Amino acid sequence: MSSRRKFSDRMLSLGLARVSEAAALASAHFVGRGDEHAADQAAVDAMRRQLDLLDIRGVVVIGEGERDQAPMLFIGEKVGTGYGPEVDIALDPLEGTALAARDMPNALTIIAMGPRGTILHAPDVYMDKLAIGPGYPKGLITLDMDPDERIRVLARAKGCSPGDLTICVLDRSRHQDLIAAIRHTGAAIRLITDGDVAGVMHCTAPERTGIDAYMGIGGAPEGVLAAAALTCMGGQMQGKLIFRDNAERQRAKRAGITEFDRIYSRQDMVRADVILAATGVTDGSILRGIRRGSGYLETDTVLLRSRTGSQRRVVYRQRVRPT
Ligand code: FBP
Repeated sequence: MSSRRKFSDRMLSLGLARVSEAAALASAHFVGRGDEHAADQAAVDAMRRQLDLLDIRGVVVIGEGERDQAPMLFIGEKVGTGYGPEVDIALDPLEGTALAARDMPNALTIIAMGPRGTILHAPDVYMDKLAIGPGYPKGLITLDMDPDERIRVLARAKGCSPGDLTICVLDRSRHQDLIAAIRHTGAAIRLITDGDVAGVMHCTAPERTGIDAYMGIGGAPEGVLAAAALTCMGGQMQGKLIFRDNAERQRAKRAGITEFDRIYSRQDMVRADVILAATGVTDGSILRGIRRGSGYLETDTVLLRSRTGSQRRVVYRQRVRPT
């Protein structure tokens, strides 16, 4: 039987929620403690342990880095019990490590799963990203367009003026020109210090998040995770890998990338149905961060299935014994 036919995602998605929750709970103690590394390590260890309880033959395609850089959850690592469907796994045990360490909004844990060979193995380089939410004509705006054209076209499609739009951009010096071009149109900018997976996800619910589009350069692995989220939540995305030197091109080659100038659509990055779980670590517009009550920790997880478009919220309360 092919791995695709065996990819019975209904029950697996519940297992994914536990994996995502475990990573978030493990990082809870480190929220606001200023130690990015410790927060990340705790989340990685917990996610790795939980993944091995799932009945899958999984391979990490988006993970903590290449084998020589990451002791765990490295790209190519096999995870799961070794029984069940063959799947690709894209994950980030703590997306926005600095956000978590500083207790700033939108740190989350995220994991997506699809049939083997269907999720782009993006190297750990940068990616220029463009995303909008659902409900717009296909191909409405593209990375080929200048920022002002994208904004004019998007405003026309939304039936508003550019000044009514808000674009989310990572606050980086490399975005100076992009920020100036967006401001020139009259559109507002939501600058974020980190966490562009959440930035892209926020485009899917502008009435709640206030964000209409995401633009700019961030991590390529985060780009693929964001594409997986939009595959489930709806919306359009394009990404183009950015190479700063030859070493990065070599890294891409090793990941099987042959066309360095290619613009990837959401569908190129995630080529089949996926399931995805994301748990809030700190408060965000879509996910609530971890709550600490008297004797318990509580997490908020969104569980998504692209095949049905279903979105399930799981609130989990874990008893914490007094030390
Ligand atoms: P980490 O969770 O690995 O720290 O990534 C946070 C992040 O802000 C991503 O959301 C984003 O894609 C990337 O870093 C941007 O990279 P850089 O900080 O190098 O601009």
